[in-house]
Amino acid sequence: PTDPLVLFMPSGKRGRFPVGTPVLDAARQLGVYVESVCGGRATCGRCQIEVQEGNFAKHKIVSSNDHISPRGPKEERYDRVRGLPENRRLSCSATIQGDLVIDVPQDTVVNAQVVRKAASDRIIERDPAIQLCYVEIEEPDMHKPLGDLDRLKIMLGKDWGFDNLLVSQHLIPDVQKILRKGNWGVTAAIHRDLEASRPNIIALWPGLHNEAYGIACDIGSTTIAMHLVSLLSGRIVASSGTSNPQIRFGEDLMSRVSYVMMNPDGREAMTKAVRDAISDLIGKVCAEGGVDPDNILDAVFVGNPIMHHLFLGIDPTELGQAPFALAVSGAVHTWARDIGIKMNYGARIYMLPCIAGHVGADAAGATLSEGPYRQDRMMLLVDVGTNAEIVLGNRARVVAASSPTGPAFEGAEISSGQRAAPGAIERVRIDPATLEPKYRVIGVDKWSDEGGFEEAAKATGVTGICGSAIIEVVAEMYLSGVISEDGVVDGSLAARSPRIIPNGRTFSYLLRDGEPRITVTQNDVRAIQLAKAALYAGVKLLMEKQGVDHVDTIRFAGAFGSFIDPKYAMVLGLIPDCDLAEVKAVGNAAGTGALMALLNREHRREIEREVARIEKIETALEPHFQQLFIDAMALPNKVDPFPKLAA
Ligand code: FES
Repeated sequence: PTDPLVLFMPSGKRGRFPVGTPVLDAARQLGVYVESVCGGRATCGRCQIEVQEGNFAKHKIVSSNDHISPRGPKEERYDRVRGLPENRRLSCSATIQGDLVIDVPQDTVVNAQVVRKAASDRIIERDPAIQLCYVEIEEPDMHKPLGDLDRLKIMLGKDWGFDNLLVSQHLIPDVQKILRKGNWGVTAAIHRDLEASRPNIIALWPGLHNEAYGIACDIGSTTIAMHLVSLLSGRIVASSGTSNPQIRFGEDLMSRVSYVMMNPDGREAMTKAVRDAISDLIGKVCAEGGVDPDNILDAVFVGNPIMHHLFLGIDPTELGQAPFALAVSGAVHTWARDIGIKMNYGARIYMLPCIAGHVGADAAGATLSEGPYRQDRMMLLVDVGTNAEIVLGNRARVVAASSPTGPAFEGAEISSGQRAAPGAIERVRIDPATLEPKYRVIGVDKWSDEGGFEEAAKATGVTGICGSAIIEVVAEMYLSGVISEDGVVDGSLAARSPRIIPNGRTFSYLLRDGEPRITVTQNDVRAIQLAKAALYAGVKLLMEKQGVDHVDTIRFAGAFGSFIDPKYAMVLGLIPDCDLAEVKAVGNAAGTGALMALLNREHRREIEREVARIEKIETALEPHFQQLFIDAMALPNKVDPFPKLAA
């Protein structure tokens, strides 16, 4: 008779094993990651699995709870002491008795879309770079003068299969104390990231230590966002964000580079500012999640090239001018203590690789998260900030570039522009017949033409227009004929609408005739045209490199993408023509990528491989870029058709 067939979900890995094999051993042999800290002593409870009952015809397998050994005394004891849910089993104790479908619970479910249009939830399977291993070692013996640490290493080899282990220097003075305190039982945290590098003991605790956490952090030039995650369950324990204190040295990236060039201590000051902010944020997520920062053992960071360099303490001057040379483009492995981040003293840091001098580790994170290289269809991934990072490709080939959109999309350079905050206009509609507008304000739950709007708006005030509404208002002005295809405000309309008002030699559109008065000027329209033309020209250049005249699917990463309406983005020609149902905002995809790299080492190798394969296009060096830019100044575009939009 053949051995029972065991199928593990969600990985789908399967194999045949003799009756009596512990489920944990079967998982190990198939390379299915099931956590275990106690090494099969049925004390840590980390190896829990569930049996799926039923007839899985697709896999020709019938699974039932009768096909697993009943709870033995060890599991009963664990249940008494710590509690084990009815449907859960300890895979180190439960043995295979027949065909099984085993569910390995995965707690890391990232809802990629936080704001709207729910994209499908994503499950990240765990295989973190940090492993906790409990061992019991022999007591010292005068006849065998082997050191305490050496016996510990031998046990880690015997019980956990590690050989050639390194030990972090800082642990050596404490090892004897820890072993004795734990009565010869200790838990070692082992870092095993690169196949090529030796596994390393980075932390030690007396007895069974059942907690290990990690940080996934996106260092944006405006905002720093962080997740605190249990490495043992994959659960996101807390998430938080803070503004990047480097803003006081310069709003945008280039002004921060200039600050470094002009001030002898500029680089140090900005490095310290961002590291301090990150340490504070770690304190905050730890307080929120009730986690001791000493239990944080690993951290993954992403950021644009300039944030990446400043965080690592690298002078970003070279990134300020052609050829935009990165000090290091590959992934960076280092120690938290070396960059002064407050976590466990032995904690590790991993930074995703940068794609190019303008396309950073944040774009790499978004690429890992959205995976254009996993698609058959042509996927466009854009992250709009003061620099738009653009990735276009599919399984066969991926190209990337950045385009200097400037800060107009974020509300800067716009006469009434502001960041998204209570009081900011966020939605706009213009009646094409009367040219009368209506709008919505963040913090006020009404359209401006509804009764009681002014009273409701008193609390927040109406303070300006935020990025998403700037896109909408310009698009609505175009749709209602207030501006021409070339973006010129039609002054002749002043005769029939009080909304068109002269402003020097040009005309403005009066959006709000109250206190304060809010207008959209000819200059505002120009600023949006320049920004959108830069974005579109970058996209078009990549489409030409790929030899395609359309894209199948579009992903907007970042805060900006979460708020703009894809329809308006297309009316203005920010993005190429595409089925609107295929245009999705994916929120902080860079942060999701960092989370994936934190929870699964294979994702690190995956993005390292892909980044090496991505073709980098430098828009500044492409003579054709200028023409694409000029064509893209028109609404939606001088030469390119938008058939899906018309439909
Ligand atoms: Fe620790 Fe099973 S491995 S309880």
